[in-house]
Amino acid sequence: MPRTRDTEDITHGLSQRPASISPKYFYDQHGSRLFEAITQLPEYYPTRTEQALMRRHADDIARSVGTGRTLIELGAGNCQKARALCQLVRPACFVGVDISADYLREAVAGLQSDFPWLDARALGGDMTRGVELPADIPRAGRLVFYPGSSIGNFDPPHALQLLAHMRELVDDDGGLLIGIDLPKDVNVLEAAYDDAAGVTAEFNRNVLRHVNRLIGSDFDLAQWKHHAFFNPQESRIEMHLEALADAQVRWPGGGRMFEQGERIHTENSYKYPLPVFTAMLERAGFSDAQAWTDERGWFAVVHARP
Ligand code: TRP
Repeated sequence: MPRTRDTEDITHGLSQRPASISPKYFYDQHGSRLFEAITQLPEYYPTRTEQALMRRHADDIARSVGTGRTLIELGAGNCQKARALCQLVRPACFVGVDISADYLREAVAGLQSDFPWLDARALGGDMTRGVELPADIPRAGRLVFYPGSSIGNFDPPHALQLLAHMRELVDDDGGLLIGIDLPKDVNVLEAAYDDAAGVTAEFNRNVLRHVNRLIGSDFDLAQWKHHAFFNPQESRIEMHLEALADAQVRWPGGGRMFEQGERIHTENSYKYPLPVFTAMLERAGFSDAQAWTDERGWFAVVHARP
């Protein structure tokens, strides 16, 4: 097994106390499919709420954003959201960026055949390490699209860094359209990350399958339990994997013992009150934030300019 950056990253996280695995390793092919299934669960309100509010405020959003742009979506996944936005704002060019490159390429090909007028590109890569766009992507009129409250999966300092990076991707005539999940009733939040059908649990455990493949470890998925809860101090959902029994895990060149009940932290999902988030946008170099929310105030879509 070659020692790649991923190997270093994963074994380092596993050796910490408490242990952690970066959420980017959720997204192998199977993980991307499971994630798509999550977005359709009855308990998982964010995708549906964001879609509905973008449909409801379509004219306003289109007016704010403008047509003929170069649309850059980070974490484009199945390009379902891009499809709706392309219909709405008719960009000239679309660049989908996603860590799950094969999955993305399929989705972008589908988009291209549905919209022959669009110049659609797929860019596989880890956006947390900085996005480098091909030289022939127009600089003028770029719109960065980051839906689904994915920004909430970074801790606040990293989220700020990422927003500042998005600012650098666009010229002064550019923009950012971003979705954020807002704080709400704990029961609603916790159900969204621990559904009755167990899809989120399977998604969480699948990270171990992916890690086994990447670093040659021998995690036994059946020994790990999905655990998700809201942490009010940090205003975030936390996802963990908890050892059901003592577990010895080995990988080439290392290993670690986990005691029964010990956890591996796999993801956070921060819930920002709107004013807190707009303050963060300003610190990242964006202003003129305009926000749209649903009637229940569960989710917001924000457009901001440099
Ligand atoms: N960013 C979304 C959220 O935090 C989607 C997401 C990322 C997610 N990882 C997840 C949803 C894990 C459920 C479980 O809600």
